[in-house]
Amino acid sequence: MEQNTRVVDGRDVRGGSRDKTGFALVRLPGSSRSSGFDRDVRRGLAGPRKQLPPKYFYDARGSLLFERICGTPEYYPTRTESALLARHARGILDQVAPGTLVEIGSGSSEKTDHFFAACEQLGFYVRYQPFDVCDEALRAAAARLRSRYVWLDMELLVGDYAVDLPALPYSEGPRLFLFLGGTIGNLNHDEALTFLAALRNAMHPEDFLLLGFDRIKEKRVLDAAYNDAAGYTAQFNLNLLKVLNARLDADFDVRRFAHVAFFNEDEGQIEMHLQARCTHEVSMSRIGLVTRFVEGETILTEISRKFTPEGMRALLEAAGFRWRRHEEADSGYFSLVLVTPT
Ligand code: SAH
Ligand code: TRP
Repeated sequence: MEQNTRVVDGRDVRGGSRDKTGFALVRLPGSSRSSGFDRDVRRGLAGPRKQLPPKYFYDARGSLLFERICGTPEYYPTRTESALLARHARGILDQVAPGTLVEIGSGSSEKTDHFFAACEQLGFYVRYQPFDVCDEALRAAAARLRSRYVWLDMELLVGDYAVDLPALPYSEGPRLFLFLGGTIGNLNHDEALTFLAALRNAMHPEDFLLLGFDRIKEKRVLDAAYNDAAGYTAQFNLNLLKVLNARLDADFDVRRFAHVAFFNEDEGQIEMHLQARCTHEVSMSRIGLVTRFVEGETILTEISRKFTPEGMRALLEAAGFRWRRHEEADSGYFSLVLVTPT
């Protein structure tokens, strides 16, 4: 069985590599970059309906590009959710009285500052376990947080939230789990149900989950959010091909693909694709795969589902959660919901 690898203040406690930045960092089994990658690419690119899992977007460059997306005027989710957290972080801390914040898909952790600032005001100090597939993003976030909140005790968790929830190291409760950014929408219905049920299973009765979800709204607003004028979303999407080139010794030419994203109103989801501008072949030497793209053909690289509060409530209840508190933007653009295990 694979074991978690723990690196504490620069020293791997099993005696191996060093982490120069000196944070306690735990590698969960799903973090090994090679594990599912070859299989996912074969499965996703060999057949007729091409598709790749979105977790491979987030190499160091992908995570930086995602931060750029968050700063664009079109991408309303980040600032809307941030404003909700600014308003309600303190009330949520009062309600939960957590010993630890565990953030899943934490990325830059910037919005989480609202909790740390509220902690300082309340004079009560939590521990923080950010959990992400991108270790560069985790380290950068930890370095920023350490300089700003010197009291903050952190343990960085590198892993895949689709497989590693049962292996999360425990920390003092009650725990407030955070899953922000509307990332729940990047999972299809079955994946979301499986993910939430696994999280529910990992939680203790006194723990809470705060979930941020994006709402159904006018197509015009949604289309713009995934097609920013500065082109960061396009660069982010195309970066996936560079990840494939680097990891598979492949010869994708990013100029032969276009970023395409639109809101599918029937499905209630954004669909993001990479569309071949011309018919051509690409070879992925390391896994011995050659794939032909016909002009106009696409790779589905991500979905981002949008919800009604009723739809999200049904999903959460099906996964074994009880709806406790709901905060929404005046615009109705974005919601935060606080739930507990049933
Ligand atoms: N929570 C941040 C980032 C959202 S983007 C925000 O709200 O702005 C999604 C984040 O989830 C990225 O940081 C990405 O690296 C991470 N992520 C994507 N797939 C993942 C997976 N399978 N396991 C763990 N983290 C994942
Ligand atoms: N969780 C984010 C969302 O669904 C992720 C995201 C935003 C994203 N913009 C993107 C992913 C562009 C890929 C490309 O909104």
